[in-house]
Amino acid sequence: MTGEDESGRPVLRSSRWYEGDGLRAFSHRARTRQLGYLPQEHLGKPVIAVLNTWSDINPCHSHLRERAQAVKRGVWQAGGFPLEFPVATLSETFQKPTPMLYRNLLAMEAEELLRSYPVDGAVLLGGCDKTTPALLMGAASADLPAVFVPAGPMLPGHWRDQVLGSGTDMWKYWDDKRAGLIGDCEMAELESGLARSAGHCMTMGTASTLTAAAEALGMTMPGASSIPAVDSAHERMAAAGGARIVELVLRDLRPSAILTREAYEDAVTTVLALGGSTNAVIHLIAMAGRSGVRLTLDDFDRLARTVPVLANVRPGGRYLMEDFHFAGGLPGLLSRITGLLHLDRPTVGHTTLREQLAGAAVHDDDVIRSAGDALAGEGGIAVLRGNLCPDGAVIKHIAAEQDLLTHTGPAVVFDDYKTLQATVNDPGLGITADSVLVLRNSGPLGGPGMPEYGMLPIPDHLLKQGVRDMVRISDARMSGTSYGACVLHVAPESYVGGPLALVRTGDPITLDVPARTLSLDVPDAELDRRRAELQAPPARYGRGYGALYQEQITQADTGCDFRFLAAPGQVPEPYAG
Ligand code: FES
Ligand code: MG
Repeated sequence: MTGEDESGRPVLRSSRWYEGDGLRAFSHRARTRQLGYLPQEHLGKPVIAVLNTWSDINPCHSHLRERAQAVKRGVWQAGGFPLEFPVATLSETFQKPTPMLYRNLLAMEAEELLRSYPVDGAVLLGGCDKTTPALLMGAASADLPAVFVPAGPMLPGHWRDQVLGSGTDMWKYWDDKRAGLIGDCEMAELESGLARSAGHCMTMGTASTLTAAAEALGMTMPGASSIPAVDSAHERMAAAGGARIVELVLRDLRPSAILTREAYEDAVTTVLALGGSTNAVIHLIAMAGRSGVRLTLDDFDRLARTVPVLANVRPGGRYLMEDFHFAGGLPGLLSRITGLLHLDRPTVGHTTLREQLAGAAVHDDDVIRSAGDALAGEGGIAVLRGNLCPDGAVIKHIAAEQDLLTHTGPAVVFDDYKTLQATVNDPGLGITADSVLVLRNSGPLGGPGMPEYGMLPIPDHLLKQGVRDMVRISDARMSGTSYGACVLHVAPESYVGGPLALVRTGDPITLDVPARTLSLDVPDAELDRRRAELQAPPARYGRGYGALYQEQITQADTGCDFRFLAAPGQVPEPYAG
């Protein structure tokens, strides 16, 4: 909407394309006739872009083609005019080197589509890991009214008498296979049992964490984020979102009114109470930047000290997202931490979050714990500092063996992930359970794209001895479904000369999570000497998107957005005449 006319009627942004006697407006109307619509079906109605990340290659979004139809149904019924826009899909499973390389590309695509077409509001369909932050970053920058429709978790996995969680149980059984506990027959059965339906990973991985964050921010319909993807309630939620966006356009309620500092703090609090993915740290910092909110690692650490972990969901807990949904879902969980939230801020569903949570309840106290019975008294993510990570690093300490959280051991350094894969099982490296595995060149530039290499594999010979966790350090990210004493997001990364580049095998490293420190116990003079010997690696990309990426990407502590996208700024509205 762009204001009101003399009689107080809202003036739609799309009217710049459609109304008036000019040649262009005539052409836009004629081309809409070409699409098969009557004038009365669309003129004067809010145009709603349905941005859809559906693709044949993305199993997490394979139902979104149908869901877009439900969204459109809601839009029509509320008096709007829906138009579907296919946008890039970011499949966590298939896209290499990592969809993180392309998060900002989808964000740009979303923003520019919304700006350049006759759009008054948007419904965003996504859920597989990076799609959620990407779509919300684009919508925040375009600042047109928007509702996010989360893809929803897939059905729980099953194998024999076991319930399987995506990612989490894949890692677990893969280690069992490497340890010789199960064989190829079992693995073949597992292959068909891990992922049983459309929908995103059903553990508290990055997808569930980020869609919950979107709900906590106030960008989804209430309770939307945990509805199973193939539940009929999911279709009803999509239709309700379609109806709601029309109302938001008429009220001119934009992301800038919803995505405030308070909203981002509540999203951080929510992620912590969920024991959610470490990836949320990077994405929420980037999303906040688009809204002009400076969110920092210190905000996460400060809030983490006050937020108990209440969601008993894998990998940090026991259950899966479907259990979480029927236990009350995110509204239930938020109803237990209302004292930590900003309740007087608007959401797309209600005038205030307080109103939105009014009827929320928990129906299973083991799945969604109370503060007095929390899985951990403090939030699940700790921010570390020290001479190995001057700009910070993170660890999901609730998903690690607790005795490793204060640990000193000798480094075993791998220069890149391929070398690690090729050599980690070599007994000649002398790796013991006390060693600290270090992987470098896996950051935003070094990876490139900061792949999810952070749960470094434990050598076979140690697995066979029953070792299931070790201290591991990298400038990579880690899948939200992973676990272990893995220090991640070391900033600055080794590729740009961060201290990780200076570590040598045998150097003692000390991790002290209670003190929030990570240190390389080598004298400064020696580190200076090593630094002087460092040589900058050659640029990886000579052309294309990768060249733009390497020129513009920021480090993990500031969210890995592109510099030219990272802050609000003036962008002219396109001339439509
Ligand atoms: Fe899509 Fe996990 S692979 S959410
Ligand atoms: Mg993941």
